[in-house]
Amino acid sequence: MSLAVIVLAAGKGTRMKSDRPKVLHRACGRSLVGWALSGAEPLDAEETVVVVGYGADEVVASLPSHATGVVQEPQLGTGDAARVGFGACDGDVDTVLVILGDMPLLRTATLASVLETHRSDGAAATMLTSNFADPTGYGRVQRNDGRIVGIVEERDADEVQRAITEVNISVYAFDAAVLGDALGRLKSNNDQGEYYLTDVIGILSADAQKISSVAAEEAECLGVNSHAELAVASRVLRGRINGQLMESGVAMVDPERAYIDADVEVAAGATIYPDVYLQGATSVEIGAEVGPSVHATDAHIAAAAVVRFAVIESANVGPLAAVGPFTYLRPGTELAVDTKAGAFVEVKNSQVGPRSKIPHLSYIGDTTIGEDSNVGAATITANYNGFEKNRTTIGDRVKIGSDTILVAPVTVGDGAYTGAGSVISHDVPPGALAIERSPQEEIPGYAERRKRRASQDGE
Ligand code: UD1
Ligand code: CA
Repeated sequence: MSLAVIVLAAGKGTRMKSDRPKVLHRACGRSLVGWALSGAEPLDAEETVVVVGYGADEVVASLPSHATGVVQEPQLGTGDAARVGFGACDGDVDTVLVILGDMPLLRTATLASVLETHRSDGAAATMLTSNFADPTGYGRVQRNDGRIVGIVEERDADEVQRAITEVNISVYAFDAAVLGDALGRLKSNNDQGEYYLTDVIGILSADAQKISSVAAEEAECLGVNSHAELAVASRVLRGRINGQLMESGVAMVDPERAYIDADVEVAAGATIYPDVYLQGATSVEIGAEVGPSVHATDAHIAAAAVVRFAVIESANVGPLAAVGPFTYLRPGTELAVDTKAGAFVEVKNSQVGPRSKIPHLSYIGDTTIGEDSNVGAATITANYNGFEKNRTTIGDRVKIGSDTILVAPVTVGDGAYTGAGSVISHDVPPGALAIERSPQEEIPGYAERRKRRASQDGE
């Protein structure tokens, strides 16, 4: 069998109240059309064509390399969309699977069973249908002695037809030649003046072609038309993602409160606490503890690292590292093995060497720190002079005193110290102490004298 998949995705999605094309709205880090494509991908189609219209450039730019976008302009209905998609397919496909770009919950297994039934029945068309508790708005499946004879749209249906609860999901397998012929015979003589793909089923029935069907669970057929439906779909997908992760050995304290995107990797033996968002190309290794309350995007959290109450963007947390609470790791941060970025610490574009610690209240930007160094509480790298960013270099076994300001560009050599409260604007040689503050003076008896002066003034 040579298969083509056609994804219909030209609509705007008015009810999203957004300029963004509906199919680019995201659930668990993946666009709706991305979900549709990933559901179909394991079917190994020769060709995958996505019919785009509203926001065509944006949608096409989002597509994976195995999918081709084809523009439908104007959008004259689902039958017209299928015709445009079919026209973009190679002549030598024999089976066409049509799916929608806004149904992210359909499983590969369900699509595969449509194709399997189609093949084993030798059908001209095989539809996915479902019995909906409330079929309002959907096309109803018309049967005669159990045989499918057509689909009638809600707005074209009479009262008897509206009472039918078996609905058309808009997932179909077609014999390619039969589909091509029927699409050419579609008319737009319906309530909307559109070409309905659903009419292909009526045409095939009139031609006495075999039409089969596969029943799906209602829950899998959710079409996303609004933000409320997007939230429902996201919750279901999250449940699947987390279910798979737990199955593979990831511990989750409360899976309903772990928001892990589809393409994130979490290794067996990691523990995810509540209110954790792992997004983009994030990966978490064995034994790591993440959360509670971590928001990580494109982050790598290595084995046995512990990250609590933190925001991490495009940063690497090394093995055994401790991050948090209330820590912000910004792009380009590399924490090596057994490092610490502690409470109220922000690190940006900096490399922190093995076993070095930044425990409290610091800003470290554009900085390289060697091994076994300690950065005292409230240290700040002044990396920006108003015109350009400059680097700070801290060597191995350095002790930066509390409340040091390191005015970049500046280098503190191996084994050096800085005195607490110093503003360090010149390089510090290895092994030296740099101290920059005025000598302390004591004024004996000051308090008594002050009190006396105050009481004299009062008389
Ligand atoms: C369609 C079916 C209906 C079915 C329902 C299931 C038809 C006529 N009706 O109705 O039987 O119960 O899906 O969801 O097919 N699209 C295009 N180009 C167009 C028109 C639509 O690409 O010119 C795409 C849309 O982006 C959307 C999908 O096709 O993803 C369905 O279109 P829509 O207009 O929403 O059809 P429904 O009225 O939902
Ligand atoms: Ca729809």
